[in-house]
Amino acid sequence: MSDLANAIAPLTGEPLRQAFFQTSKAGSNMSKIWFITGAGSGIGAATAVAALKAGDRVVATGRNLDKLRNALRDLAGNNLAFVQLDVADEAQAKPAVDAAIKAFGRIDVLVNNAGYSLLGNFEELSTVEIEKLMATNFYGVMHVMRTALPVMRKQRSGRIINISSLAGIVGFKHCGAYSAAKFAVEGLSASVAHEVEPFGIKITTVEPGFFRTDLLDVRNAKYARSSIEDYVAGGTAENMWSGYHGAQQGDPAKLGDILVKIAGMDNPPKQFVAGSDAFAVVKPALEARLEELRTYEDLSKSTDGSV
Ligand SMILES: NC(=O)c1ccc[n+]([C@@H]2O[C@H](COP(=O)([O-])OP(=O)(O)OC[C@H]3O[C@@H](n4cnc5c(N)ncnc54)[C@H](OP(=O)(O)O)[C@@H]3O)[C@@H](O)[C@H]2O)c1
Repeated sequence: MSDLANAIAPLTGEPLRQAFFQTSKAGSNMSKIWFITGAGSGIGAATAVAALKAGDRVVATGRNLDKLRNALRDLAGNNLAFVQLDVADEAQAKPAVDAAIKAFGRIDVLVNNAGYSLLGNFEELSTVEIEKLMATNFYGVMHVMRTALPVMRKQRSGRIINISSLAGIVGFKHCGAYSAAKFAVEGLSASVAHEVEPFGIKITTVEPGFFRTDLLDVRNAKYARSSIEDYVAGGTAENMWSGYHGAQQGDPAKLGDILVKIAGMDNPPKQFVAGSDAFAVVKPALEARLEELRTYEDLSKSTDGSV
């Protein structure tokens, strides 16, 4: 086994070693190379499946390699590599990206998908709970982008798909922390998009409505630990949100196929709303925003000083 394959082995396991040898032999294969975070379930796993079915190669990353292997076991082969990555740990980002480059030589599409939900009235959420959420849902996106962008700049091409949320456009009760993280992802993506477009890199944020994944599963969703009497009459966050689990209409497999389509577009959307439930909320919200903008146009412009 070569030194390079030995270097990859402890990080990744057998599929990646196989992938390395296959890629070396394959030479110039035009299929895209995907790097997906949180690929062990839900939208991440579905996107990995869709990309593999499209003939692309995938670096599936996650905190738990067994979970990843289990989720994608039917597709295991030379086009699929598994890499350990907890996105909340900045130190893990570079070794993960390096492992992807060693396996497949480049990264064409980065999907920042890893995330979880923390729900509760803002006053009931602790700073520690919110900081932990931000560490994964916002800083996680930042760490992986910061590590993958130099690779894409060198290539002079790349696509970044950041999975935001309907709650990244509109505020909902109990979603103060979750929305703050997703709005932050939107702001980061929209700004960095201007900086990297000259290098052939395009960024799309995806705003799903309710999709049938493990997001609201009792093992994953987090709720405010403390409770304030005044909010009790409004019902608990857990009662309200856990009821959606298993009843979401969005199909992650269909979203995976759409992401493959978006990754192949010369001019992908900057923001893509996924699901008719999300569309039904976003359209009137944006129209109301436009109407308010027009209503206060004169007041908005009245702040100008003399030139
Ligand atoms: N489903 C929806 O209705 C919906 C709507 C809007 C937005 N979204 C967004 O879609 C994305 C994917 O969620 P999903 O719905 O597919 O839920 P999911 O099935 O729970 O998948 C989320 C994945 O992220 C992983 N993850 C969590 N924290 C991580 C970390 N620190 N490092 C690496 N991986 C981590 C989880 O793996 P572990 O086993 O390691 O926890 C899990 O595999 C999230 O960003 C979510 O906010 C989902």
